[in-house]
Order: sequence, then C-alpha cells, then structure tokens
Amino acid sequence: MDFGMENRLSKIFKPKSGKTVMLAVDHGYFQGPTTGLVNLEKTIEPLGNLADCLFITRGMLRNCVEKKITSSICLRVSGGPSILRELSNEDIVVSIEEALRLNASGVGMSIFVGAENEDRSIVNLGRLVNEAEKYGIPVLAITAVGKEMGRDARYLGLACRIAAELGSRIVKTYYCKDFYKITESCPVPVVMAGGKKIPEKDALKMTENAIKEGASGVDMGRNIFQSTNPVKMIKAIKAIVHEGADSKEAYKLYSKK
Ligand code: 5RP
Repeated sequence: MDFGMENRLSKIFKPKSGKTVMLAVDHGYFQGPTTGLVNLEKTIEPLGNLADCLFITRGMLRNCVEKKITSSICLRVSGGPSILRELSNEDIVVSIEEALRLNASGVGMSIFVGAENEDRSIVNLGRLVNEAEKYGIPVLAITAVGKEMGRDARYLGLACRIAAELGSRIVKTYYCKDFYKITESCPVPVVMAGGKKIPEKDALKMTENAIKEGASGVDMGRNIFQSTNPVKMIKAIKAIVHEGADSKEAYKLYSKK
C-alpha cells in the first residue's frame, strides 16, 4: 500500500485498536433536516472531536464544522434523489479534486443491490474507485437498504462482497442475524451502521455483537445523535470498539451521573 492510502486509512482506523468509531451525519443529503441534525453545527460541536472520523457531505463540512476539528473526514460523494423519489437513482456528485481540497481521508457512496438502479450504482462505485485510487483515497461503499430489500446475512453479504470485489477499501452495512457470515466473506473492513434509533442499551448490545462477529467498528448516526445523551453514548460506543468493553460495562459508563 502506498503512503497516501495507508496514512489516510490510519486516520480512519485507529492504529492502536485497528478499529473506528465514525459518526455519520450525512442523512440530510436525501432526507433534509433529520431529527438531531436540524442544527448540524450544534450537534457536531460536542461530538466532532470524540469521533475518529466524521461521515458528512461537503456542504455541511464547509458550513457547520470547525476547521480545527481533530477527527478525520470521510466525504459522502453520492446523491441525487430526495426521500420523495426512487432512492437508488443516485450518481456521484462530488469530484476527487473537491475531496482532496477538503482534506478528506476517505470518500463514501451507496450501492443499491437489488434495486431499480442497481447496475448504475455499482458501475459508479467502480468509477469512483478508479478515480480515488489514483490519489490514494480509500472508498467506503454503503450497502443501502430500501424498503423492499431484505436485511438478512444472505442479502447484506451479497452486497458487501460486491462492494469489496469492485475495489472498496471499507464497506458499511447494517447489523443482522449471523452478521459473522458477512464479515467472514468480505475481505475488507466492515463497519456497522446503526440504523433507526433504538434504546441505548440495545444499541450498545448490537455494537458489542457486531465487534465480536468481526466488524472493524461503526459508522453510526441516529443512535448517537438522537440519544438522550449523545456525548455519553459516543464514549460508551468507543469503550466497546476500542477498549473491548462489553455492552453492560458500556451501559454503566453511559448511565454514570
Ligand atoms: C445514510 C447513511 C448513514 O450514514 C448510515 O445509515 C449511518 O447512519 P445510521 O446509524 O443513522 O443508520 O448512509 O444514508
């Protein structure tokens, strides 16, 4: 691996644990002002420096993030449809030059396996990898799950494997039963998205399970920024991901006055 690629990956995955706690705040790119992200600047202010990496769009990075932030940046570069339309109709909307200008340590886009525009999203992933690899930028592929698509290990395993085959350096997917089957058949690091907000105790248990089943960390949004106490929640997640805490210990940390 060349220096640029390895160095950028080390800004995402902490060298000591080899894992990452990414904070996903990109939801507005198709759903507008999401609960917890209405004032993104306010959400990020206490959390930004606690995350290893922020997963964010370029507009929000420019306008809502303190320039001295210590966490690295992974830029969402796909977009197109809003929540009102067919979500798989995405394209790449940010150039690699822009990612370099914004000092991104990685770029990310969704693929829509099984959806109407499956093939276009996968071809776009190949194109993005071609461009990003020229400059040593890792590509993170997200296995988007539409309403009609399943969330079982067979479906998500298929989507993750395709993402890795196309050259993604990191894959983000959702937790499901037999998650280990996904990580087992995916040769690049898999990070877990949190999905819809669930009780903190359950989100911590899901994180513990994902790590035990081979995840290289999380790229979590709603279960952190919609938590009653987002700062305590990200700290509890970090304890599981980086320090090997179990979910009970992490929940104690979360609940501590
Ligand atoms: C939105 C995304 C999010 O980054 C991803 O779903 C993680 O956020 P959450 O933990 O809230 O699911 O890709 O399209």
